[in-house]
Amino acid sequence: MITALDHIAIAVPDFDKAIKRFMEDFGLTFEGTEDVEAAKTTTAFFPIEGTSIELVHPLRGEGPIAGFLDKRGGGIHHICFRSNDIEADMARLQEKGYRFLSESPQPGAHNSRVVFIHPKSCDGVLIELNQPAEDH
Ligand code: CO
Repeated sequence: MITALDHIAIAVPDFDKAIKRFMEDFGLTFEGTEDVEAAKTTTAFFPIEGTSIELVHPLRGEGPIAGFLDKRGGGIHHICFRSNDIEADMARLQEKGYRFLSESPQPGAHNSRVVFIHPKSCDGVLIELNQPAEDH
């Protein structure tokens, strides 16, 4: 079951500059950075009232975020719903015809498990389902 808007992710070409913006200009709390090897992405989280902003940047200049930045520059990359049973949500949506970017959940930030719904299945929006570590 989908239970919350876990985060909104923004792809940023200049990671340090964007971290500074969210910390100093917007005054959000900086929770730190985390590299997600499985997604070739480095992330920075800024929790705010029940959700988070996640900045995403290519790890070592490669991976899907590098492709996104090359094609479109910075911008909103995905939104993420929290799930309390990611396999069940995946199966339910697949039955309705939704396509996913991987066949099973992958390791995400904070020891979570994540899977992405293909943007073509959702009006062009990339949607992540995320089951936090404490729920699995
Ligand atoms: Co995310």
